[in-house]
Amino acid sequence: MRITVIGCGYLGATHAASMAELGHEVLGVETDPAKRAALAAGTVPFYEPGLEELLSRHVASGRLRFTDSAAEAAAFGDLHFLCVGTPQSSSGLGADVSQVDAAIESLAPHLTRPSLVVGKSTVPVGTAARLATRLADLSPVGGEAELAWNPEFLREGFAIKDTLEPDRLVFGVASDAAEKRLRDFYAPMIKAGSPVVVTDFATAELVKVSANAFLATKISFINAVSEICEVTGADVVDLADAIGHDARIGRRFLNAGIGFGGGCLPKDIRAFLHRAGELGVDDAMSFLREIDDINQRRREYVVTLTRSMLGGSLIDRRIGVWGAAFKPDSDDVRDSPALWIAGQLQLRGAQVSVYDPRAGESAARVFPTLTYADSALEAATGADLILHLTEWPEFRELPIASVSDVTTGRMLLDGRNVLDLGAWRDAGWDARGLGRR
Ligand SMILES: NC(=O)c1ccc[n+]([C@@H]2O[C@H](COP(=O)([O-])OP(=O)(O)OC[C@H]3O[C@@H](n4cnc5c(N)ncnc54)[C@H](O)[C@@H]3O)[C@@H](O)[C@H]2O)c1
Repeated sequence: MRITVIGCGYLGATHAASMAELGHEVLGVETDPAKRAALAAGTVPFYEPGLEELLSRHVASGRLRFTDSAAEAAAFGDLHFLCVGTPQSSSGLGADVSQVDAAIESLAPHLTRPSLVVGKSTVPVGTAARLATRLADLSPVGGEAELAWNPEFLREGFAIKDTLEPDRLVFGVASDAAEKRLRDFYAPMIKAGSPVVVTDFATAELVKVSANAFLATKISFINAVSEICEVTGADVVDLADAIGHDARIGRRFLNAGIGFGGGCLPKDIRAFLHRAGELGVDDAMSFLREIDDINQRRREYVVTLTRSMLGGSLIDRRIGVWGAAFKPDSDDVRDSPALWIAGQLQLRGAQVSVYDPRAGESAARVFPTLTYADSALEAATGADLILHLTEWPEFRELPIASVSDVTTGRMLLDGRNVLDLGAWRDAGWDARGLGRR
């Protein structure tokens, strides 16, 4: 099929390259000139494992092209995937849907044939119904320019696999024809076993934000329990292992640490909370405020604990920080707790040297005043204390002796609870986790 992908950031670039891999002809529409030029040259302007190889292969084969023209997009295909950003609004907790609105406004007037526009962005419930009306109003073919909502659940770091082998497909549709179109398009995934949930717009929109709210709740739950472990001498990792054996609970997303971040969970729970308020049911989602608070408290706590480990003052103390991305296998530093902590420590007087295997450049764009090292050992050199904030495997694999050789102090705080504290302690370090013995 000939499809377009409107908005080629993390989601759109992955969707475009993955759909080309499935054999479709894909036209990516991207308004950012630098991003568009990079993609058209076969390079990915962010890090996602395997994506650059996939993208460059399909750019070279001609199956994947990029443009900024909505008219060209409308002429190219009849199936248009909407993957633009929906960041937190600058004036409150709600989602800023202006990119979604702008994309519809520019595409719809050019839709002169029956077409299906498929929203994949995460939007507040009610957006799809509004956009469907707008699309039909603006298109020369009226209601034959139809909308569907097909939320995306990919995880950065696993984006290609999650796109090609989704654990579920959700189709929010208003007609049987739209459902059939989507079933035909996703036939390879459906054949391979991905379950399909066909529903209305509102449910499809809510599935996505509910999934993220649930995941955020799970993380904040274990982080709240970890606060109790801290004051009682209990161990939150043993506790999570034990409760995780209960199949009703499960072990995943029960890792206590510095909390969640990234371009999705924080802004999605806030937008959900805000939308509930607009709908007059504030109480239904008010617990998300607490989930957010618990999460923010983690970052503050790590700053406080670091100061206390250093004897009560951060001024002129040297801190080596391992990790800046919000998670490993990504260079995404949007709302990253790791970068927030590094930044706060520096703002409060410490000398901070940060190393991340992939996110150094994106972190330096957001926080240029930190020092960025080229290796974990360089960041550790001369440090009074090491903070482990993003769980890249290379940090677990570092020989402790080589770290001991370069640091000034012997203090380690593992903000992700994955390092072998016993081994560090055996090597003479004051090694601590969060909520750990
Ligand atoms: N990143 C993820 O892991 C992920 C996962 C699931 C869902 N989502 C959702 O997907 C959406 C996109 O997220 P993202 O992380 O890819 O955001 P992003 O900011 O990386 O990408 C959005 C892109 O759209 C482009 N754009 C904006 N307006 C445009 C227009 N009118 N026409 C063409 N291009 C336009 C921007 O320049 C940008 O490159 C969001 O709603 C997000 O919540 C993201």
